[in-house]
Amino acid sequence: MRMKIIGTGSALPRTRVDNGQMAEWVDTTDAWIRERTGIGERRLSTGETVVSLGTEACLKALEQAGIGAEEVDLILLATCTPEYLFPCGACQIQAAIGAVHAAAYDINAACSGFVFGLNAAQAYIRAGVYRRILVVGSEVLSKVADWSDRSTCVLFGDGAGAVLAQAREDGESRMLSSIQGADGTKGMVLNCRSRMMMNPLFQENPEEADTMYLTMDGREVYCFAVRQVAVCIAQVLEKAGLTPEEVGLFILHQANVRIIEAVARNLGVDIGRFPMNLERVGNMSSASIPVLLDELNREGRLHRGDRIVLSGFGGGLTYGACVLVW
Ligand code: COA
Repeated sequence: MRMKIIGTGSALPRTRVDNGQMAEWVDTTDAWIRERTGIGERRLSTGETVVSLGTEACLKALEQAGIGAEEVDLILLATCTPEYLFPCGACQIQAAIGAVHAAAYDINAACSGFVFGLNAAQAYIRAGVYRRILVVGSEVLSKVADWSDRSTCVLFGDGAGAVLAQAREDGESRMLSSIQGADGTKGMVLNCRSRMMMNPLFQENPEEADTMYLTMDGREVYCFAVRQVAVCIAQVLEKAGLTPEEVGLFILHQANVRIIEAVARNLGVDIGRFPMNLERVGNMSSASIPVLLDELNREGRLHRGDRIVLSGFGGGLTYGACVLVW
């Protein structure tokens, strides 16, 4: 059984925030942000949620595929910024779209989450467990950003993307290979704490409350990404029996233009084959890849039979990639 993506969708908050606006909130400049990251603006939530954005993205993917929500077997939501610990966001999206026959659960692999979700969908489909799976990446990172830390708050944006993956017995479209990994020993270089322990027997130091926002060692994350993503893509291509020249597009997690340029250089691939949208939307963690995929799809830049590499990397630290025949 092969996995074919038959619909894509995305949703962004309505409010744009450019670098000039950021400079009114923290001590920064448009020039610094553009030069170091490639980001020009991002969308920030003024009430949109992981569930509302994810729901909109799913409905668009279903509409494009011409499939009713009740025909979906599973919803996998990649998110690291859920509104609730439980019910999970995937169950809330299931209710919102009326996917009455679908199982649903969340995946937290930070910025690698969408690729991990797609790899899981492929495994379920190959094993014959499910036939139609919505894989969603949805984040409201502005909720966990530290708005007093200029080195992190300028990087992130909010948004959601989704694909509908379907089992097919024939046709060219499929996933050729996948790879994923983690290095938990370096997890704290990009972290955001959950709730503190405050039970009647034990209370954590209230000063720890400062760590309940996103913190990052930018240099460490940068070095990890440049090194690991190129290795990961080389490995996933080798598994598929392909060389970089045989791939049409490399759709990477949109963290930073300099990371993407370094990966392209390491692979010896022209940067023109690495589409980017981070100038307009910033780093949307697990939503970056599916939003870009949807934009490319709707612009008519993906053609059946094209070979595409997806690669995500981020908190965990996690990394993953897959090769698709579109
Ligand atoms: N505006 C202006 N100056 C800023 C700034 C901002 N928004 N953020 C940091 N600076 C300053 C720092 O305070 C520092 O000043 P100093 O030299 O006086 O101490 C200077 O700029 C350099 O900071 P540094 O952190 O060394 O910059 P950098 O070249 O490493 O770039 C990142 C910082 C975050 C852009 C870069 O490390 C990066 O992209 N890392 C990867 C982050 C990422 O993608 N994370 C998500 C992965 S999923």
